Amino acid sequence: MKTRLGVLLGLLILPLTSSAASLKPGHDAVASAQPFATKAGMQVLAEGGNAFDAAVAVSAALAVVEPYSSGIGGGGFWLLHDAKTGKDVMVDGREYAPAAATATMYQDKNGNVIPGASLNGPLSAGIPGEVAALAYINRHYGKLSLAQDLAPAIKLARDGFPLDRMFHAMLQSREQKLKQWPAAWKVFYLDGQVPPSGYVLKQPNLARTLELIARHGPAAFYTGKLAEEMVNAVRANGGIWSLADLRDYQVKLRAPLSGEYRGMRIVTVSPPSSGGIVMLEALNILSGYDLAADSALMQKHLIIEAMRFAYRDRAEYLGDPDFVKMPLARLLSPYYAAGLRTAILPDRATPSSDLAPVTAEAPESRHTTSIAVMDKDGDMVGATFTVNFRFGSGFMPPHTGVILNDEMDDFVSKPGVPNGFGLVGNSANAIAPHKRPLSSMMPTFLYTKRGLAILGTPGGSRIISMVLLGTLDYFNGGDAQSIVSIPRYHMQYLPDTVFYEPGAFTKDEITGLEKMGYTLRETHPYGNMQSITWDYRTGKVRAAADPRDVGTAEVQ
Ligand code: GLY
Repeated sequence: MKTRLGVLLGLLILPLTSSAASLKPGHDAVASAQPFATKAGMQVLAEGGNAFDAAVAVSAALAVVEPYSSGIGGGGFWLLHDAKTGKDVMVDGREYAPAAATATMYQDKNGNVIPGASLNGPLSAGIPGEVAALAYINRHYGKLSLAQDLAPAIKLARDGFPLDRMFHAMLQSREQKLKQWPAAWKVFYLDGQVPPSGYVLKQPNLARTLELIARHGPAAFYTGKLAEEMVNAVRANGGIWSLADLRDYQVKLRAPLSGEYRGMRIVTVSPPSSGGIVMLEALNILSGYDLAADSALMQKHLIIEAMRFAYRDRAEYLGDPDFVKMPLARLLSPYYAAGLRTAILPDRATPSSDLAPVTAEAPESRHTTSIAVMDKDGDMVGATFTVNFRFGSGFMPPHTGVILNDEMDDFVSKPGVPNGFGLVGNSANAIAPHKRPLSSMMPTFLYTKRGLAILGTPGGSRIISMVLLGTLDYFNGGDAQSIVSIPRYHMQYLPDTVFYEPGAFTKDEITGLEKMGYTLRETHPYGNMQSITWDYRTGKVRAAADPRDVGTAEVQ
């Protein structure tokens, strides 16, 4: 492993159980949302890389084979566990707002939010963080060179890969958006048509961009000719990026959040993700109940109520920690949770209208992506990263092959007006120069006496409830396969509706929940979770990709 230069802010020393600390899994494992990306990770591991190299390889490959979900024009969070030191660190490669951004930039002169302005085209794009994050992880944690880690992605971009049914569906759903942006249109559509499944998609410009980064490091992306091309194209099409915005971008190393649920230790991401705070608050509420002794109906009632109360605090308090003061100690205090528990009735849903309104309905999502990686030595990476909505802003600066994100929509365009996920907020998440928008992405590690788990998923505001359900499943004895498979349900305070996948509730539970006053709405399946579990006693390492999508998992 290379020397760790740079600012090591916020490292967390994780007390594993003594048996776990001295054990090694002895297997490499990768789970991702796309088979070619999983293979890229396994290839790099086979070439002598560690989990950190593999995470870089998988992330970069996803930029090529799943560009509707993530890419080097986007950003995200990488949660690392270094087996040698037992330390966990969160690499925040989240986008930041350009310096010229203002709190009202998506409002017209009457103060109304301009529909779509924060979602489409280069004005909706934050300054990307993924390249900086991958280069950082490679430099400080990897064993191989950046060029070795990026090689599988470059090959996939240059030689192409056959489109799967999901990619095909994404192109169908985004035809109108991408038609507006000629460079992206030319790359993804064949003579102006959605190419058929199986069509071999080549992205020579993206291959060239990745090669430049492989050869010259992140400076090739954030400065020089490529940066000039991106800035010129962005500005020529209504955006506000500057060369200084790109030059000044830096990853932030943050202390992960650490919490405890009935003996299980949870390590997850801190703000600017809301995910960790909201889930830990929900788990604190739930830890006051003996769920195992309750009926399945009562368990679901209490879990839904915990979601309701925890989501309530999201919009009120959370934002970029470098810009806003947040009452994190209070939100994570067991006394605060105990106070919230007193408001939960055993036989009745709490009307959300009794609490201050926070959020509206989130659309389901097939954008953003999660990976889970572990190596033989026990190094681990959980990461969730994104270009935000499908194909991000849709805008691709010509000759770069890079789809730019539309992450600016994760800010509050106007207090009280919902964003693309139906989430509202206040000044804590207002737009400001070089501020990072609030996220829900939350790669997470779980540690018990029995073993450990890595999990994460895309899904907008539903990410948090999905990871919460996966966490409870692991606590209850589940493994990677069950964590990614269990039927899901979601409540985010407002709308006062519980969304659930087919099979999440039995008929009797539906009747029981409705009797308690819940409004239930069945949705089609959502999320795309990736997980790895390691059982200390059996030595078994399991990796699983969400059966709802096309991803794959491999253990070697
Ligand atoms: N762009 C979705 C999120 O960060 O939560």
